[in-house]
Amino acid sequence: MTISFPAQLKNSAVQTWIADMVALCQPDSIYFCDGSEAEYNLMCQRLVESGTFIKLNEELRPNSYLSRSDPTDVARVENRTYICSISKADAGPTNNWVDPKEMHNTLDGLFAGSMHGRTMYIIPFSMGPLGSPIAQIGIQLTDSAYVVANMRIMARVDAAVWDLLGTEEAFVPCVHSVGAPLAAGQADVPWPSNKETKYIVHFPEERSIWSYGSGYGGNALLGKKCLALRIASKMALDEGWLAEHMLILGVEDPHGEKTYVAAAFPSACGKTNFAMLNPPAEMEGWKVTTIGDDIAWLKPNGSGELRAINPETGFFGVAPGTSYKTNSSAMDACARNAIFTNVALTPEGDVWWEGMTDTPPAEAIDWLGQPWTPGCGRKAAHPNARFTAPASQCPVIDPEWENPAGVPISAIIFGGRRKDTVPLVFQSFNWIYGVYAGATMGSEPTAAAADASTQVRRDPMAMLPFVGYHMASYFNHWLQFGRELPHPPRIFCVNWFRQDETGKWLWPGFGENMRVLKWIVERTHGHAVAIESPIGWMPRYKDFDWRGSDFTHEQFQAVMSVDVEKWKEEVLSHEELFVKLYDRLPKELIGVRELLLSSLWRSPTYWEFL
Ligand code: GTP
Ligand code: SPV
Ligand code: MN
Repeated sequence: MTISFPAQLKNSAVQTWIADMVALCQPDSIYFCDGSEAEYNLMCQRLVESGTFIKLNEELRPNSYLSRSDPTDVARVENRTYICSISKADAGPTNNWVDPKEMHNTLDGLFAGSMHGRTMYIIPFSMGPLGSPIAQIGIQLTDSAYVVANMRIMARVDAAVWDLLGTEEAFVPCVHSVGAPLAAGQADVPWPSNKETKYIVHFPEERSIWSYGSGYGGNALLGKKCLALRIASKMALDEGWLAEHMLILGVEDPHGEKTYVAAAFPSACGKTNFAMLNPPAEMEGWKVTTIGDDIAWLKPNGSGELRAINPETGFFGVAPGTSYKTNSSAMDACARNAIFTNVALTPEGDVWWEGMTDTPPAEAIDWLGQPWTPGCGRKAAHPNARFTAPASQCPVIDPEWENPAGVPISAIIFGGRRKDTVPLVFQSFNWIYGVYAGATMGSEPTAAAADASTQVRRDPMAMLPFVGYHMASYFNHWLQFGRELPHPPRIFCVNWFRQDETGKWLWPGFGENMRVLKWIVERTHGHAVAIESPIGWMPRYKDFDWRGSDFTHEQFQAVMSVDVEKWKEEVLSHEELFVKLYDRLPKELIGVRELLLSSLWRSPTYWEFL
């Protein structure tokens, strides 16, 4: 096949790579994307024709579509995700590894002819503002128009990327196939994927990505987890920055002073909600604005100030639980120009999911395409159902969100999903304690990974599935990073998910998290009081702003309590992680663990002062 490259594309490495991939995948046709609105509309039209998209009611949900995935392709597949560094030791014990030569052989076999009967779309994109010194360029080849449509919302897809690539600039090659070639005359299905074989593969030294067999989310939108976290984390290690699974938000106090905070919570643990937090009305003058809800790239600038950008342009947010009560900004963001995957369809032609409204619709079509009624005993939406919405539509998007220089970060928050043990909030004694707390963070599983276990797992910095190299080297990189910052951000830990014995939330969460955030911001500026506990600095009841709340002192103590015996068990499970990472574990972390154990042994009377 002769390829007619766009006139702007003059980079011979790009041309050669595309030609090689066309020869390998053997698509029926080739389409160079330019990121235009007309192109988006064309993709949506093709997707409606192929049955992948259902156009939603234009009045209720303008310019929006519903998609139902194959029931076997509903989330990231962590056990099919690989870091193929040259040396196995560099991938470390928390990543799947295969020798890169062997993996290339496997992939060459899988991709050979994988696009028969399909179009290869060529997507030039930038993670971060085009031309920003923090941005990275990728090119994704894919045989999925669904991916093209979603990528246009999530990343800066733009033909101007060809100009930026000049004749020899570097890019991250991303090859994606749903792994469902069509024989001549074979009819397509609405959600092509490969039920038997999936591979999400990263070659950190080559800085390349190959993804086969899945069309869903982080498996297929390769700018997101694959480039902006797994490959970028390795770039960040080499170049002295951080690529993190973090939201970024701005807090404005009643005097108009702005503080930017980054927060790492594992998948489906509240990043989108926290990023768009709607403060209680009584906390007059406090405002939260959003920079990003999933990924942050943090780099020190020339004067040693830590700046962060959101490399994405959209939200791929968890739908279930999102409502006008819990997150009105997310609801507004997906009110139009949005793509919904695996939610339910109402008779009016709008979408619905569990938790969206107090009263469910009387009937609907569920995510599997089956008739559904509230009493039928099945969920209408898949627990990992998602909306794809442009960040620009978020009513509280921060005016600085596209600033190529990023925003200054004053505090970092780590938070897992823990029904017990971990209190609502505490501040680390210093950067090293903070790195320890992030490194040993635990979380209960969610639906964001198809193959999640059932127990608390250690999810360091919420990056367990996303660090593209040895986890212990990552800890060391964090330690070194903090040492080099003149004013490292203050580090805090939160847990919105504490429960009582009956499974009831001990903390109301959502907008109420503003009370915690306010204390964090005040601590960051040295204004709030805290007392010393064995695990860090803690607020007393009276240190919180309770205007408009009836949360009692007793309830506060319950959600802040530290059970010393449970914490000793917790430290033992830290030890399990450390044993696993022994070959490269920074000695500082062993030191902190000893200090932590030592303070856990003392009488917990601090408790009475909270
Ligand atoms: P990814 O997109 O997978 O990285 O996840 P995320 O961290 O952005 O998750 P999201 O904000 O979409 O949170 C998903 C789940 O967390 C939903 O079920 C929410 O209802 C729940 N959630 C969010 N914030 C809170 C909170 O403050 N309290 C409680 N109890 N649940 C919360
Ligand atoms: C996550 O799982 O952390 C997500 C969703 O943000 S996905 O893009 O599918 O990885
Ligand atoms: Mn995520």
